[in-house]
Amino acid sequence: MRKDEFDRRRRRLMKMMGRGAIAILPAAPEKLRNSDVSYRYRPDSDFYYLTGFPEPEAVAVLIPGRPQAEYVLFVRDRDPLRETWDGRRAGPEGATRDYGADDAFPISDIDDILPGLMENCSRVYYTMGLHPEFDQRVIGWVSGLKAKARTGVQPPQEFVALDHLLHDMRLFKSRPELAAMRRAAEIAVAAHQRAMRFVRPGRMEYEVMAELLHEFHRNNVDVSYHPIVGSGANTCILHYRDNDGPLREGDLILIDAGCEYDLYASDITRTFPVSGRFSPEQRAIYEIVLEAQYAAIEKVRPGNHWNDPHDAAVRVITQGLVKLGLLKGKVQNLIREGAYRTFFMHRTGHWLGMDVHDVGDYKIGGQWRVLEPGMVLTIEPGIYIPAGTKGVHTRWWNIGVRIEDDVVVTKDGHEVLTADLVKEPDAIEQLMAQ
Ligand code: GLY
Ligand code: MN
Ligand code: MN
Repeated sequence: MRKDEFDRRRRRLMKMMGRGAIAILPAAPEKLRNSDVSYRYRPDSDFYYLTGFPEPEAVAVLIPGRPQAEYVLFVRDRDPLRETWDGRRAGPEGATRDYGADDAFPISDIDDILPGLMENCSRVYYTMGLHPEFDQRVIGWVSGLKAKARTGVQPPQEFVALDHLLHDMRLFKSRPELAAMRRAAEIAVAAHQRAMRFVRPGRMEYEVMAELLHEFHRNNVDVSYHPIVGSGANTCILHYRDNDGPLREGDLILIDAGCEYDLYASDITRTFPVSGRFSPEQRAIYEIVLEAQYAAIEKVRPGNHWNDPHDAAVRVITQGLVKLGLLKGKVQNLIREGAYRTFFMHRTGHWLGMDVHDVGDYKIGGQWRVLEPGMVLTIEPGIYIPAGTKGVHTRWWNIGVRIEDDVVVTKDGHEVLTADLVKEPDAIEQLMAQ
C-alpha cells in the first residue's frame, strides 16, 4: 500500500473528528505462543489501517488542526543490540522519514509527552476494551490532567468510540484496497488449484494443507485463518481444524482456505470428490449449493439489502432439499419455520477486508444494511448431512458441501474476485483429471 493511501485515511478521519479532538491508537502487543517464543507479529488492523507501521510497541496519535504536528508516532527507539537479536526497527527517525509522521518520539517517553498533547482537547477518540492494560494508561493520563485542572489545564470531557468511525471507513474499499484484495484472491485461487490437482485417495488432509501453504509462502503471504481441510465426515464440521484425516475413495473433501496480502484477506471454499468423480448423491447436493450460491451472488448489487443474498440462498436450498425428499412440506412453511437450518446452519456470508470476518455494521437502526459500491463480502452457502442425521437415508450421510467466493459490490452490480477458481462440477472433474 502506498504512503499516500495511509495519509488520505488519516486526513479523512481527522476531518470527521474535527478540532479539539485527539485520537489514540496503540499497536497490538506481541503474543507469546509458549515459553519465550512469540507468534509471528501481525499488526492490529485499525492501527495498521491508519499508519502502515508494522512494529509492535507503538502508539499513533492524531490531533486535527495542531500546528506543530497533527500526526505523532511513538515507536521503539533504535537499539543496535536488540536489533541484532530481533530485527530492524524504524526508530523515531524512520517513523517520520518512512511512515509520514509529522513528529515521532521514543515509546519510553510517552508518559511525559502524551498528557501534554491531550491538554485542551475536549474529546478523546479511543477504542476501549481492546487492550485492557493500555486502557488503564489512557485513563491514568486523563485523571492526571483532571488533577491539574486547578492550574488552568483543561482535561478532556468526553471519550468517543474510535472504532465506530474507523470501521465504517474500512467497510468501503478504495481502489488500492481492492487491488490488494484481488491479489489475495489470485494467490488463494492458485493455492486451491494446486490442492485440487494434488488430492487423491491415500493422501492425508495435512498433505493437502501443505500444498496450500506452499503456494501461499512462495508468494510471500500468510494464511488469513487456519485452513480447513476436511474429508468424509469432516466435511460436516464447520470450523474443522485438525486436518489430520486420510482421504478415502468415494468421500468428498472440503477446503476453506485464504491468504492475506498486504493485510487484506481472501476467503475461499471449494468442495470436490477425493476420487475426482462425484457420486450421484454428492452431485445432487453439490448442484443445490451451487445454484444457491449463484442466486445469492446475483443479489449482490447496490440498493439491495445485506440479507437479500441469504434469503435467496435459503430459498434455493429449501426447494432443493424438498425435491430430493430430505425436507418434507411446503417450501414457504419450511422457510418460515427455519427447517433448512438442520442442513444449512450458518449465514451466507460476512464482510471481508483486513479481517477475514471484517468490521462494519450489518444492520443500521434495526434494518439490514443497504449494499453500496466498495463493500466486499463472501457468499458461502452450504449443506451438511453428518452421519446419524435423523430421517435421512444413509446414502446421504457424510456429505458436507460449501462453496465460497469473495464478491465486491460495484456501481452496476458485483465483481467476483475469486471467479477464476472452477466450481462447475464438470470443470472440477476435468481439473482433477489433469
Ligand atoms: N473461513 C471462515 C469463513 O469462511 O467464514
Ligand atoms: Mn471461508
Ligand atoms: Mn467466509
